[in-house]
Amino acid sequence: TPDTPTAKPLLDWYDRHHRDLPWRVSPGMAASGVKPDPYRVWLSEVMLQQTTVQAVKPYFERFLTRWPEVTDLAAAESDAVMAAWAGLGYYARARNLKKCAEAVAKEHGGVFPDTEAGLKSLPGIGDYTAAAVAAIAFNRQAAVMDGNVERVISRLYAIEAPLPGAKPVMKDKVALMTPADRPGDFAQAMMDLGATICTPKRPACSLCPFRGSCQALTLSDPELFPVKAAK
Ligand code: ADE
Repeated sequence: TPDTPTAKPLLDWYDRHHRDLPWRVSPGMAASGVKPDPYRVWLSEVMLQQTTVQAVKPYFERFLTRWPEVTDLAAAESDAVMAAWAGLGYYARARNLKKCAEAVAKEHGGVFPDTEAGLKSLPGIGDYTAAAVAAIAFNRQAAVMDGNVERVISRLYAIEAPLPGAKPVMKDKVALMTPADRPGDFAQAMMDLGATICTPKRPACSLCPFRGSCQALTLSDPELFPVKAAK
């Protein structure tokens, strides 16, 4: 029988294997007191919805060079923001990005709210972005769920109920595993694991920090999860 999953082996794995991404503060830097910039975290999380890490990197760098702070983005011409977004797709995201920057500038004095509920009150910030920014930028114990995290958690607990109905159950599992001391690293470690090890096809289970506690690996077959509702 598999061990009960805990965050510890995942965080140890993340300390060694985390991807160096321009919007991240590495665990070593964080240990020396460096804090992630909420604007960078928010901008990266909006860009990363429906777009890959590799595609986002150059856009992220260009946005930051041109609009170094959220107040700069708020003051930008909408056409300039839309033009800089061109190629990333899903243009509603760019319009919402601008609206959100304006709300932070005008209604919050240029400072992002530091709670999940406060973030969710901003235009264009939904459940995912609010949880991700709260955890990564503000060390709030928020349960961050995206497609990668759903895949990892569905395998770890061999969740038989199909998506999308199983989402609340999955979110409960993530909430129970999220550690109070490193919620942002935990969220990003789950995403890195889903992107590099716990892949949809042919996952690299022999390299996985959860190999001793994954129910799908021990009792079934990881590729069978997550279960999707019949069409
Ligand atoms: N996908 C969405 N957000 C991410 C993050 N912070 N790190 C890696 N992949 C992500």
